[in-house]
Amino acid sequence: MTLDTDAANRVLNGLRPFPVAITTTDGGFANGLMSLSAGSASIIPEAPRATVSLTKYNKTHDMLLNSGVFAMHMLSAGDDEVDASMEILMTLGGSSGRDGDKIGKLRTKEGVTGSPILLDAHSYVECRVIGSLDTQENTIFVGDVVASEVFSDAQRLKIGEAWSKLPAEWIEQYDANHVPQLQSAKDHRFGEGNA
Ligand SMILES: Cc1cc2nc3c(=O)[nH]c(=O)nc-3n(C[C@H](O)[C@H](O)[C@H](O)COP(=O)(O)O)c2cc1C
Repeated sequence: MTLDTDAANRVLNGLRPFPVAITTTDGGFANGLMSLSAGSASIIPEAPRATVSLTKYNKTHDMLLNSGVFAMHMLSAGDDEVDASMEILMTLGGSSGRDGDKIGKLRTKEGVTGSPILLDAHSYVECRVIGSLDTQENTIFVGDVVASEVFSDAQRLKIGEAWSKLPAEWIEQYDANHVPQLQSAKDHRFGEGNA
């Protein structure tokens, strides 16, 4: 049977509606990215775990693999807070730490793992990696939550609302950045030149 990729993608798209900001620090450099792959990874309420899947193309991927620590932040949809959320999303998701410092543009404090905590986030969990799965173009990380705070009483920002607020120029830049990322994923999955 031929795979119906349209059907598959209708099943899979939008499964995780909350964009998260992942930060880490490695070798004295702090960095981070946006992700739509975050999840909870424990059924034990008193021992929470978080999971996230990062693409090997991204600098944060290699940093997290090395440091073994990360902070995962939710963004706020609150009227007074959503502009700061959009600033975080556009800063971390719009360019690479390979091209310069992104974290220095955001308000932060140092977390217990050394990861930068984004003070304008809605909330965060900080994690130490306890396992990871290499899936060719990605690594899926699972971490024990070792610290957590909630800064805001507002709703958490969903990706649909965030996309509707993103400026057209930013989306254009994001789409352009996505091209080499997708090619890198195909190279990892199928071998270079076999996509
Ligand atoms: C809404 C959104 C969701 C994203 N989801 C992921 C993801 O799940 N995994 C990933 O590796 N990159 C994801 N990205 C892409 C990275 O955030 C982006 O490539 C970033 O610039 C990488 O920065 P870095 O090279 O400094 O790590 C997402 C970007 C956006 C805007």
